[in-house]
Amino acid sequence: MRALTYHGAHSVKVDTVPDPIIEESDDIILRVTATAICGSDLHLYRGKIPTVEHGDIFGHEFMGIVEDTGSAVTAVQPGDRVVIPFVIACGSCFFCAMDLFAACETTNTGRGAIINKKAIPPGAALFGFSHMYGGVPGGQAEYVRVPKANTGPFKVPGTLSDEKVLFLSDILPTAYQAVTNAGIGNGSSIAIYGAGPVGLLSAACARMLGADQIFMVDHHPYRLAYAQKTYGVIPINFDEDDDPADTIIRQTKGMRGVDGVVDAVGFEAKGSTTETVLATLKLEGSSGKALRQCIAAVRRGGVVSVPGVYSGFIHGFLFGDAFDKGLTFKMGQTHVHRFLPELLDHIETGRLSPEVIISHRMSLEQAAEGYKIFDKKEEDCRKVILTPGDSHIALPESDGSSSVLTASI
Ligand SMILES: NC(=O)c1ccc[n+]([C@@H]2O[C@H](COP(=O)([O-])OP(=O)(O)OC[C@H]3O[C@@H](n4cnc5c(N)ncnc54)[C@H](O)[C@@H]3O)[C@@H](O)[C@H]2O)c1
Ligand SMILES: [Zn+2]
Ligand SMILES: [Zn+2]
Repeated sequence: MRALTYHGAHSVKVDTVPDPIIEESDDIILRVTATAICGSDLHLYRGKIPTVEHGDIFGHEFMGIVEDTGSAVTAVQPGDRVVIPFVIACGSCFFCAMDLFAACETTNTGRGAIINKKAIPPGAALFGFSHMYGGVPGGQAEYVRVPKANTGPFKVPGTLSDEKVLFLSDILPTAYQAVTNAGIGNGSSIAIYGAGPVGLLSAACARMLGADQIFMVDHHPYRLAYAQKTYGVIPINFDEDDDPADTIIRQTKGMRGVDGVVDAVGFEAKGSTTETVLATLKLEGSSGKALRQCIAAVRRGGVVSVPGVYSGFIHGFLFGDAFDKGLTFKMGQTHVHRFLPELLDHIETGRLSPEVIISHRMSLEQAAEGYKIFDKKEEDCRKVILTPGDSHIALPESDGSSSVLTASI
């Protein structure tokens, strides 16, 4: 089969690799019909995540048709159309029983990214996300082996196009978890750092949940302009304003700051030159730029919600300010499975239309080009989706006048 594989920093290509086979009795083989490139894939692509090996297959946002099932699979059958959560969870361990699927303690054969681990078990395995997270081949491929198939695969109705439901695999539940973790509801104020796919869908969720003021910080004018037009955010470009938190606070009631803040940037945040050098030398695990801004922008008693990925140390972390303001921090990989029924309902009723953020529709064969465009933010790229097989995306009849969308590049 064809699959997108890693060959060193900034070098990926679509190779012919062996077809996946059923290895455990609760595996399925999925024929992928749509897959996407995530901001998390960019960390791998840029060579920033250890234990990624040459030939590893990337991709953790994908959906398709069940092709084959192991003998113990009862939840789905061949022919079912399903979206796959990027987190691989068993559904029955201590953590899964608490709906903390990203903490599943039975699926990851690696050690996870934690530094001061001691004896605790690693969190869940993730598709296509390094050998720290289990070395499980990803879904930017024609076929993929899906372990724990009685728990993960989520059936979606045939009336909704792939584009509408694909992001249930990751970025939609990630954005939703981030915004609900931030305590956002009717009349709330929120600041979202990062106007990538996770930031944009966080704005969509905040809008749906009734947020009153949504600030968005980035330095790509085209992303900020899109968010302003689509979700009514108040855009702040940090290339023009070197203290967005100050600007945000001055526009909130009583100059208290926002109720909640979302860091949808993570450890590769553009920051000071010193911090960039320290991170490159591996003296600093992550850039603290976005996180410091988040701590500054939020009101006393507010929540800093962090979907952006972090690793290792951050020295310039204003813990004293967090204490003084009495902040709550919520973060981590998304407990994807938990949110799928309610999010599907929001999509079906039209309250959420996550597909509007797609800017590039390409074939799997064009995946390397897709990575480059998304990484370099070329062609006003917001989100790339890939379809295996050819350069066409079939849409159900009910979705529009044309039954086929030609790839946009
Ligand atoms: N927690 C999870 O389960 C989960 C799931 C999906 C993605 N993620 C993470 O979420 C983050 C965002 O993902 P994405 O797909 O939107 O990626 P992306 O790379 O497209 O977007 C990140 C955005 O942050 C902006 N940015 C950089 N430095 C900034 C700064 N100092 N202040 C404000 N904005 C800044 C960039 O210009 C970019 O537009 C990544 O770290 C990704 O790994 C986490
Ligand atoms: Zn992702
Ligand atoms: Zn589990």
